[in-house]
Formats: sequence, C-alpha cells, structure tokens
Amino acid sequence: MRRRLAAGNWKMNGTSADLEQITALMAAHPAPTVDLLLCPPATLIHAAARRVADHPMMLGGQDCHAEPSGAHTGDISAEQLADAGARAVILGHSERRQGHAEQNAQVCAKARAAQDAGLMTVICLGESLDQREAQTTLEVIGAQLADSVPDTATADTLVIAYEPIWAIGTGRIPTPDQIAEVHDFIRARLQQRFGADMGSAVRLLYGGSVKPDNAATVFAVSNVDGALVGGASLTADQFSPIITALE
Ligand code: G3P
Repeated sequence: MRRRLAAGNWKMNGTSADLEQITALMAAHPAPTVDLLLCPPATLIHAAARRVADHPMMLGGQDCHAEPSGAHTGDISAEQLADAGARAVILGHSERRQGHAEQNAQVCAKARAAQDAGLMTVICLGESLDQREAQTTLEVIGAQLADSVPDTATADTLVIAYEPIWAIGTGRIPTPDQIAEVHDFIRARLQQRFGADMGSAVRLLYGGSVKPDNAATVFAVSNVDGALVGGASLTADQFSPIITALE
C-alpha cells in the first residue's frame, strides 16, 4: 500500500553539465513504477525542473530556512524551492546537524515551513558510531523522531530517512537485522503518535552506502520503502540499477 520511493541526494556536487544525468535517468525509466526524487544543489533545481517537464520524477532541495522570507543571507526558503520547481526537501541530514549545528527543534520548524509551502519533507535520523556502540541507537532515533517531526505532519508530506552516520559515504552498511530493528521501531513510534492509519502510511527510507550491488538486500528488509542515495545517485549508470531493484 505504500508506494516505494527512490531518492537521490547530490549533496554539494554537480554543475549544469550534470543535468545530462537526469536526462539519462528519465530515458532509462520513462514510466517508473516507484516514485523518484532527485535533490540536486539548489543552483540546479530550476534548470532540472525544465528538463524533467512531464516526467514523474520529483525534484527536491537539501535544506530550507524555517521562515518564508527575510534577512537571512545565503539561506533559501521553502517557498523559493517550490518556486524553482522543487516538490520536496531533505531536512535534518546529519551533514546539516553536524556541519551547521542543527537541532531537532530547528528541523521541526523547517519541516513546518516546508509543509506550508506544499513540499514533501524527507526528515533524516541517524546515530553516530559511538552511539551505536554504546547501544543507545533506539534512544537517539526515538528522540530525533519525536522532536524533529511536527505534529502537523501528514502521510503525504512526511517521509523518514534512517541514515546511520557511520554508514554514510563509508561503504559500511548495517546488517539487514540492524536496519529492520530501527525501521520497525520508527514504524511503531509513528503508529503510536499519529495513529495506525497514518503511522502505517508514512514511507521509511534507508540511507547510507546504498549501491547497485546491495540495493536488493536492503529493499527486502521489513519496513524499508526505498532509499535515500548519496554517491550512487550522481550518475544514471549507478542510480538506475538501484531504481530497478526497487521496482
Ligand atoms: O543522503 C544520502 C546519504 O547521506 C547517503 O550517502 O553516499 O553513503 O549513499 P551515501
């Protein structure tokens, strides 16, 4: 009942020349049976949206400000992302939490702003290696989930991405049991908080070193509805087989 979602996060990679990858991806998947979301740098969203045209691929931002406009040099509002052609935004990525000291409350405020602008929010949660080794993973994920997700979230606007920090860009990936433990936990918490219907309808993505050769294993895990892919989303050659594995 949940439509699967393959999402790509280009992070701070890509210039106009890389728009060709989007064209190649659409050519490889002219009528995808899963949802596709690509989040290039904000500088490329407008041009990417023109290329995407009528193809169902969605474009997204990688962060937004919590306010709709104002004196915030260098920031981008949710409205501006939507105006550029974005239909979604990644929020609370660990690289924002670590590199920009973002706290759960800020992520939550940004999520409310994104929702108000009509964007789907992909809210990222994840534990560090120290936290996993200290066996506090579920505690950390539970607190991030409780405080980063607004009460006003809906099944259509909320996607959760579980991204263990130690798996991001490292080639090290949790075992299927480790992924299942966290995803089942997130699902149960969502059901408790939002009720069975909504809690069961929110999509849960896994992110962290998803590659063509491990995608099928990840997608077979309970409560995994897709992936948030970093490095392997940068080229159509790498991202396309991951999408195929999800279909
Ligand atoms: O948001 C995606 C991400 O953090 C995972 O990156 O390069 O390990 O697939 P990567």
